[in-house]
Amino acid sequence: MDKKMLGVIYGSRSCEHEVSIVSAVQLMRNVDRNRFDVTPIYISQQGAWFTGDALLDMNTYTPFDPFKKGLKQVYLDLTAGSGALLHMEQGKGLLHGLKQEVVARIDCFVPVFHGLHGEDGSLQGVFELANIPYTSTGITGSAVGMDKITMKRFFRGMGYPVLPDTSVFRSRWQKEPEQVLQEIERTLDYPVFVKPSCLGSSIGVSRANDRAQLRDSLELAFQYDRRVLIEKGLDKPIEINCSVLGFDGTTETSALEMPLSTGEVLDFYEKYLKGGSSAKGMASMGRVLDPDIGQDTEKQIRSLSEDIFTALDCKGVVRIDYMIDRETGDFYITEINTIPGSLAYYLWNKKGVSYSQLITRMVEYAFKAQQEKDENSFAFQSDILKNVKLGGGSKTKLKVP
Ligand SMILES: Nc1ncnc2c1ncn2[C@@H]1O[C@H](COP(=O)(O)OP(=O)(O)O)[C@@H](O)[C@H]1O
Ligand SMILES: [Mg+2]
Repeated sequence: MDKKMLGVIYGSRSCEHEVSIVSAVQLMRNVDRNRFDVTPIYISQQGAWFTGDALLDMNTYTPFDPFKKGLKQVYLDLTAGSGALLHMEQGKGLLHGLKQEVVARIDCFVPVFHGLHGEDGSLQGVFELANIPYTSTGITGSAVGMDKITMKRFFRGMGYPVLPDTSVFRSRWQKEPEQVLQEIERTLDYPVFVKPSCLGSSIGVSRANDRAQLRDSLELAFQYDRRVLIEKGLDKPIEINCSVLGFDGTTETSALEMPLSTGEVLDFYEKYLKGGSSAKGMASMGRVLDPDIGQDTEKQIRSLSEDIFTALDCKGVVRIDYMIDRETGDFYITEINTIPGSLAYYLWNKKGVSYSQLITRMVEYAFKAQQEKDENSFAFQSDILKNVKLGGGSKTKLKVP
């Protein structure tokens, strides 16, 4: 069988740009090269796409120089099924027109983004349009998973356990902050957690114990998003993460992890830097693998994780995070990450699945999803165009047969 070309695509205009680079370079080093070739595709902070071997070297990003040797700016051909990455160059000689070169043809995209413009459904929309298989969750699941306000409404609607919350738009906060503060206090008791709706890696997340802190927390969160979630806070909850792998009714859960946090928020530093090796991304975070949380709770968390995966029609590998209330023992969903840090490979390693095998499984699910899509009909014959009379007059009518 021909080797398939994987387009590992990452970076983008996101606060989690750097974390995405770490996750992607780590992933590329673990692809089974007997089965796949790899084209790295880096989306810069300005939103330009690049490819080239230089992208495999971490030094390329510190800082990124678009003119560096070994890099080419590319454009994806959006024609359905093409998968071509195009490079344009000014031709030399008399006619010196624009020369177009196909740098690579991608058989399957492996999106390794965290946050906006990549994990949020936007790039997934591009892949759907270009009709190329991709390893992450589809448009809807990605978009709902990215947006904490919508995500929690969805989970609540499904009857899944989430903490009480409320939300505010920035425009309203700027117009009538005092009313907003009063309204939040009428809905929720302190402490509360305040979060930008569409972000991750704990950026802009803070705890407020009183009105003054709430004001500061809202100001902080509104720097990152025009919609903010305010949620009932738990005191030093036990955090438990569970990864799920699969597609369309086939689901499997990973080992569980309990991230170790010293403060009130498992923050950016603890997630990526505390382990001393930022090159490992999320894999370097302090954690307990397979923590003892009691058989019942573990079973419920695993089963709920699989339900969530299916409810959001997820694909590939996701990570669902929970908080257990130390006082009551009840657990709540914190969030779903449809492209988790380091693709949660360390949770699969613990289950005996190597990173290479995990990537291969993700690609297999991507092709399965494409096969399913190809079974749908995208044509519907009707006579509608024959009966249309175009024109600006009020008498123009569209006759629908
Ligand atoms: N309601 C809450 N009560 C207590 N701690 C919370 C609450 N919500 C979030 N946290 C803490 O903040 C961290 C980040 O919150 P989370 O919703 O996961 O945002 P992000 O998407 O940025 O990771 C959590 O891992 C946890 O440590
Ligand atoms: Mg989180």
